[in-house]
Amino acid sequence: MLTRRRVMFGTGAAILAGTGYYAFNRGPSYDEMAESIRVPVKPGGNPGLEYLVHHATLAANSHNTQPWMFGGSDSHVQIRPDFSRATPAADPDNHHLFASLGCACENLMLAAAAAGRGSSPQFVPEADGRIDIDLAGETDGRDPLFEAIAERQCTRSEYDGKAVSNDELALLEKAAAVDGCRVMLIPDPVRMEQALELVVSANTVQVNDAAFAKELKSWLRFSATHAVEMRDGLYSGCSGNPDLPQWIGNLMFGFVFKPQTENERYAAQIRSSSGLAVFVSDADDKAHWVQAGRSYQRFALQATTLGIRHAFINQSVEVAAYRQEFADWLGIGAQRPDLVVRYGYAPPMPRSLRRPVSAVIVS
Ligand SMILES: Cc1cc2nc3c(=O)[nH]c(=O)nc-3n(C[C@H](O)[C@H](O)[C@H](O)COP(=O)(O)O)c2cc1C
Repeated sequence: MLTRRRVMFGTGAAILAGTGYYAFNRGPSYDEMAESIRVPVKPGGNPGLEYLVHHATLAANSHNTQPWMFGGSDSHVQIRPDFSRATPAADPDNHHLFASLGCACENLMLAAAAAGRGSSPQFVPEADGRIDIDLAGETDGRDPLFEAIAERQCTRSEYDGKAVSNDELALLEKAAAVDGCRVMLIPDPVRMEQALELVVSANTVQVNDAAFAKELKSWLRFSATHAVEMRDGLYSGCSGNPDLPQWIGNLMFGFVFKPQTENERYAAQIRSSSGLAVFVSDADDKAHWVQAGRSYQRFALQATTLGIRHAFINQSVEVAAYRQEFADWLGIGAQRPDLVVRYGYAPPMPRSLRRPVSAVIVS
């Protein structure tokens, strides 16, 4: 958990920034905002669009751009892509954008079930593509995964290397099973080391890609103050980096974002993990990318319930030149490996922020 002390005293520069912030700004601190966006919203009458969207927006999403808009009514919700929040350098075909919509869709369906509503999602390919969720149906009841929505997080730290039991791996696999997508678990350290080689090769390409670095930088929130203003993007503290005034972070980024440093960090993180999970969908189209997002979200919620942490290491599926090599290594032929995460045990990290629900509900 990010403490106010850590925000203010992370570095000498942060002391200056923090002092100014707390002396003159009466708004919430980073921690207060992270807490407030997770205060439970109770179902309204029917069960209420705000209640559903609150839970949907706590889902994982690429670069925390929150590339979604919600419309319709609480008996028929539409989740639409917001391409103004796309990341073309990291995600040229919008695969991650649609997977992010899938993550939100899964949370929304779990929230509906917790309020006694069954739901059936359908990918509508018209125009740019959207997800329609009909909430008129019956439900089997509350899914225990619902309880983990507010607590789930991507934990980008080194883990303690402890193995996850076979029983728990079976639960993760079961939770992640959705139509058109499955998860492949890789707990073998020899196989993990082979995967790491591909991650390092692909990561080197990404870090050396000026467009990728520029785009990433535009979503980095180096200071808690800036993160609280924007309520999106990747706050340094969530990755274990010190809090810096935004302008200093922007200035320093080019000097510290280097292949060797980044590769060493990923190697340590993967080697400290209990295993890897690769989400593989049956076909390479938007409807299946959505399903991959749903599968990941269910995996992540189940992991959270079991006290297991996870974080993405997607480089070898993001860099097209390595994706097929990775698929060959997995032995999945022409199927697309959608997403890759590592899992294991670690204390929680600071939690990410979200924009207000009112900002993403459109008529
Ligand atoms: C499709 C998708 C791709 C992602 N890719 C990465 C990634 O490559 N590296 C990473 O550290 N996090 C990745 N993330 C995690 C997001 O950055 C994270 O979900 C977001 O910052 C919000 O934080 P939270 O999940 O802790 O709430 C990805 C998430 C999604 C849904």
